[in-house]
Amino acid sequence: MDGKIMVIGGTGLVGNALLRAWTARGAEVAAATYHSHPSGGFLQLDMRDSARVGALLKAHRPSVVAVPAANPFVDYCELHPEETRKVNVEGTLNVARACRELGARMIFYSSDYVFDGLKGSYTEEDAPCPINEYGRQKAEAERGVLACDPRNLILRTSGAYGWQWEPKNFVLQVRNNLSEGHPMRVANVRYNPTYVENLAEITAELVSAGASGIFHTVGAEEIARDEFARRVARAFGLRDSLIQTVPAGEFKSPTPRPKQSSLRTQKVQRILPDTPPVGVDAGLKAMLTMEPAWRDYARTLPDPAAKLKP
Ligand SMILES: NC(=O)c1ccc[n+]([C@@H]2O[C@H](COP(=O)([O-])OP(=O)(O)OC[C@H]3O[C@@H](n4cnc5c(N)ncnc54)[C@H](OP(=O)(O)O)[C@@H]3O)[C@@H](O)[C@H]2O)c1
Repeated sequence: MDGKIMVIGGTGLVGNALLRAWTARGAEVAAATYHSHPSGGFLQLDMRDSARVGALLKAHRPSVVAVPAANPFVDYCELHPEETRKVNVEGTLNVARACRELGARMIFYSSDYVFDGLKGSYTEEDAPCPINEYGRQKAEAERGVLACDPRNLILRTSGAYGWQWEPKNFVLQVRNNLSEGHPMRVANVRYNPTYVENLAEITAELVSAGASGIFHTVGAEEIARDEFARRVARAFGLRDSLIQTVPAGEFKSPTPRPKQSSLRTQKVQRILPDTPPVGVDAGLKAMLTMEPAWRDYARTLPDPAAKLKP
């Protein structure tokens, strides 16, 4: 068994899937936190508050602390670097220090945006070379988390999608827009979309295997975002003609973004040959299969916590 687990950011897309994966494995989840969206049994935590982080960890004494908590809004990070650094770097390191004090291992979620996208495809051996503030914050947090304790685990992911309380991931945006007949302009940047339940499974398996260091944990397929949107449309039975391709360089954004930031997953596949990363069609199929169970779960969410439009 993995010992007691704590999830900081349990209300997020990744955090919520982690809770499902560990619960399904019979793991003991000591506590899970929210920040600004209260819900059910989740405990409030702002990881910028180092005293509160330390007190919460001491109270629950987890042996593994997963930290999918962050401000992941890339444009917001670009426009508000000091404010977001306090969460994404300093907050993360508050947790890393509290874990070290307690002897707990930490799992930190990083991003393909630690790379500039010029090489196109990256292994864990490639040196980070971020071109935007979010990527710089992730790269700095990665270094700090590993410096705190080399047993910690850094999981770089990309384009996570799945069922979510607040339908903000790309797949749900495509589904919701197209089902209301709204056209979407989508850049043809290339990346590996990642089915969040698969990411959670892989996380749990890596923890059980005692893995440490950096791993690329993304979906099996590299694809252009506009093509992914069309696959989503087809999977959900919607009109893919509403998707308009925008060349990556023409997409208006305050943030420079990598044009091709595919991550190679051979390292994780060597350690977990029985839990491979899934590709886009398998991920979308699994998501559709999960829809009735998700709707049942969603009905149990207490209001006003539910930001949910299932
Ligand atoms: N989703 C992706 O495509 C993707 C891609 C690459 C990397 N990542 C990384 O993967 C991780 C998980 O992403 P996600 O999509 O699951 O994010 P998310 O859905 O936005 O969830 C973020 C979580 O962090 C919590 N949080 C926010 N500010 C906090 C603070 N100051 N203190 C403590 N908790 C705080 C939020 O709580 P409330 O909701 O209650 O405020 C929420 O539970 C992030 O580190 C993200 O950067 C994600």
